[in-house]
Amino acid sequence: MYYPQVNRRAPRTGHEFLTGQMNIRIRMMQLWRRQRALPRLFAILGPCFILFLLTKHFNHTVIQTQLMDTDVDMDQMPFPPTASLPAAASQVGTVKKNNVSRPKLQKYAPQSRGWLKCTFEDEDLPQPVPIPERPNGEKLILLFNHKCRHYYSEEHDIKTVFQGCPVKNCIATEEKWLAPKSDAVILLAPAFVRYFNFPLHAPVARDRLPKVRPAEQRWIFYTRESPCQSHFPKTKEARDFLGLFNWTMTFRTDSDIPRPFGVPVKRTVPQNKDYLSKAKSKQKMVAWAVSHCETWSRREDYVKELQKYIPVDIFGQCGEECGNNDKCFGNIDANYKFYLAFENSFSTDYVTEKWYRSVLYDTVIISRGGADYSRLGIKPEWHINTADFKSPKELAEYLLMLDKDPEKYVSYLNWRNEYTFEEPTGIDWCELCRKLNDPNEPPKIYSSDDMLNWFYGSTTDKTDCRLPTDLNF
Ligand SMILES: *[C@@H]1O[C@H](CO)[C@@H](O)[C@H](O)[C@H]1NC(C)=O
Ligand SMILES: *[C@@H]1O[C@H](CO)[C@@H](O)[C@H](O)[C@H]1NC(C)=O
Repeated sequence: MYYPQVNRRAPRTGHEFLTGQMNIRIRMMQLWRRQRALPRLFAILGPCFILFLLTKHFNHTVIQTQLMDTDVDMDQMPFPPTASLPAAASQVGTVKKNNVSRPKLQKYAPQSRGWLKCTFEDEDLPQPVPIPERPNGEKLILLFNHKCRHYYSEEHDIKTVFQGCPVKNCIATEEKWLAPKSDAVILLAPAFVRYFNFPLHAPVARDRLPKVRPAEQRWIFYTRESPCQSHFPKTKEARDFLGLFNWTMTFRTDSDIPRPFGVPVKRTVPQNKDYLSKAKSKQKMVAWAVSHCETWSRREDYVKELQKYIPVDIFGQCGEECGNNDKCFGNIDANYKFYLAFENSFSTDYVTEKWYRSVLYDTVIISRGGADYSRLGIKPEWHINTADFKSPKELAEYLLMLDKDPEKYVSYLNWRNEYTFEEPTGIDWCELCRKLNDPNEPPKIYSSDDMLNWFYGSTTDKTDCRLPTDLNF
């Protein structure tokens, strides 16, 4: 009779959640006064304690996933001045930017880094009233998640990004208040999908999306993460969010604006490096530098098996400490014959800087990933692909054979005298500007299902976060 009426429905908002907890406390106090019998008290405290543990657990998992997502310390990112527009702000006066009521963020996300900042952080600059008119013909591109700057442009200077382009009448901005005047809005999609996946965060995420959206404005689905890491849309809100886009800009070659992590380029003047003598000076076999120890592709399991048949030295967070990048890769470059460029996910066209950066070192690359490498301009004779071997054991036998045959071994390196790879920034600024200026670009609408099927491979049997098939040893 006196048991607390715990509301079993999952709280939909932070407010409900908190008042729910408050109700329980009030009831407990009432019961304390009325009941002297200790057993009853325990009967009441029991369920409360379980509830407490559950809420603790929930908070804990939210914070855990946040941290897991934080690959790069975004607080380290410099804050460059934005393009010409903000100058107007001081001239025309300001309004309080927060007169629109929105839930307090602090409660949900105390000072966290990573995705959260990318999604929700406010601008420092006030909004001018009225918003200045754009010069005729100039295209304005809004980088919506401005705190994720490292995703957009490695050199972090959006003022100069159009300088070398054939079509340059574009300007990039990070001021969210310019959304109504922008020709394109680039959204770092996984950051939002992630927040729409949490009932507590969904209202906040919705509130932060641009509210005024001209019909000719293009929203661009932007990501450099594989579908495995891009937070599969679990809630209706997350799926609805995917139905807002006109263009895609990802590492996939079939994006509206494809942007691989690397592109092959033929050297204008061929190099003349003597890979053979370098190879002969190397004493060690396989090296792997890695910082994420448990992955979707379960590369860690593959490597463990490989180690049974050939020495593999593991450096970085999942292995031996090896100093800073220069020192670590200097050692690999000087001493090791093979380097493992294993991706963390098996997904279409997903070959990351892991692969492209290892071209800088004179070690033969061993690839493992879900991409068709030759579709990305990586010729089969340029690397060793684990997909061509039945098992890690068979791969090891091949590597040991190459170790005995320097001529054959260097055939995997000699191509580098003629070709190299460039690592483009996350955004193809020139192509973006060209497309925005092209009067023949048709309107385009992706439905939520289009996006789900294309990027995530939503139907469970052909998800594009594929499971490894090479681990049956
Ligand atoms: C925000 O402030 C402006 C200017 O004072 C006002 O016109 C507008 O109605 C306010 N918006 C809200 C949602 O209160
Ligand atoms: C962009 O997508 C939105 C939402 O689907 C749509 O209303 C709009 O017409 C599209 N605009 C263009 C230029 O394709």
